Amino acid sequence: MNTKELEQKYELEVYPRRDIVLVGGQGARLFDDQGREYIDCASNVGVSNIGHGHATVAKAVYEQYLALGNCYSMFYNPVRARLAEKLVSLAPAKLNKVFFCNSGAEANEAAIKFARATTGKPEIIAAMRGFHGKTMGALAATWGPEYQKPFAPMLPGLKHVPYNNFEKLQAAVGEQTAALLLEPVQGEGGVRVGDRHYFQKVRNLCDDLNILLIFDEVQTGFGRTGTMFACEQFVAPDILCLAKSLAGGIPMGAVLCSDRISVPLKSHTSTFGGNPTACAAALASLKVIESEGLVEKAQTLGGYFLDQLRQIESQKIREVRGLGLMIGVELKEKAGPYVQQLMEKGVIALLAGATVIRLLPPLLITREQIDTVVSALKEIL
Ligand SMILES: Cc1ncc(COP(=O)(O)O)c(C=O)c1O
Repeated sequence: MNTKELEQKYELEVYPRRDIVLVGGQGARLFDDQGREYIDCASNVGVSNIGHGHATVAKAVYEQYLALGNCYSMFYNPVRARLAEKLVSLAPAKLNKVFFCNSGAEANEAAIKFARATTGKPEIIAAMRGFHGKTMGALAATWGPEYQKPFAPMLPGLKHVPYNNFEKLQAAVGEQTAALLLEPVQGEGGVRVGDRHYFQKVRNLCDDLNILLIFDEVQTGFGRTGTMFACEQFVAPDILCLAKSLAGGIPMGAVLCSDRISVPLKSHTSTFGGNPTACAAALASLKVIESEGLVEKAQTLGGYFLDQLRQIESQKIREVRGLGLMIGVELKEKAGPYVQQLMEKGVIALLAGATVIRLLPPLLITREQIDTVVSALKEIL
């Protein structure tokens, strides 16, 4: 049996698949088993901010695994300690504690628990079209009956309000509200950029009513939007959820918390959370982001990419929007067939909802590669 047949036979079918077998990656390029090359505009849904096959991360993982690959957090460990210090130094000033986990859903799951434990209140308000992962707690915050229905009943206490609509949010908060859980830029929901005035009002509301503000930056984190964290362009949250690109492609999540957050001992833990291999990968990945100026690249190349895309004249395009290298091309029709056509032209892109082509290239993509992607889009649209 070939790769495709083996996966189809032995894996539970939960992912809609594309009909190629990827076997390699270097920088912003991916390679399939037929020797075809693609420009990666998906980054594994925002994981590969530093591109594929980076030697700095590979070396760090290899060396750390040989030294001490795993170390449960009941013991202290110097690599974990350094990563915690580094993350706190990068985050908004009031975020000064870290909880380590292994994925985006887990980070949000933890944040929901921390908010409840801290406030003693059950209610979390999230946004329509928001995406926070698919474990039971995160799923209750994720918008979309198609995801929730097969697994009902949902965790009680989770409510949804329209994104970027302060009046509706204000009307929804109450005595029992522990926290608001929002993405500064909605990714899965269609690359919708948060409104800065909206977020300022949200911050004020949280301060006035003693409600915690949780930002899900699982997709927007680590340079993607042109700043290390998107919240730098909005407001500082009380809890910041991170994952995806944190450890350069090695599974890892982190929840950064302000002083306000307190959780009873042993109430939330994770076997693999903060394992030294992932921590070494994260430290190496952050070194790459800083030494290669990837945050600045995301800002300048993101601006260039958006400009080029906005110059495409096509009746099929409704809007081109984005922040940094997180870009959405909203069509007036279903985007699926166009994502397929792009792949046939050697560009791997994503969907965000039914009508949006989402482009999340590695932050080290070159101008020439962007030009190639724009030409391919121009041709098919
Ligand atoms: C904003 C956001 N939060 C959470 C998640 C879930 O992350 P994971 O798939 O690592 O659980 C995602 C995944 O796409 C995401 O984009």
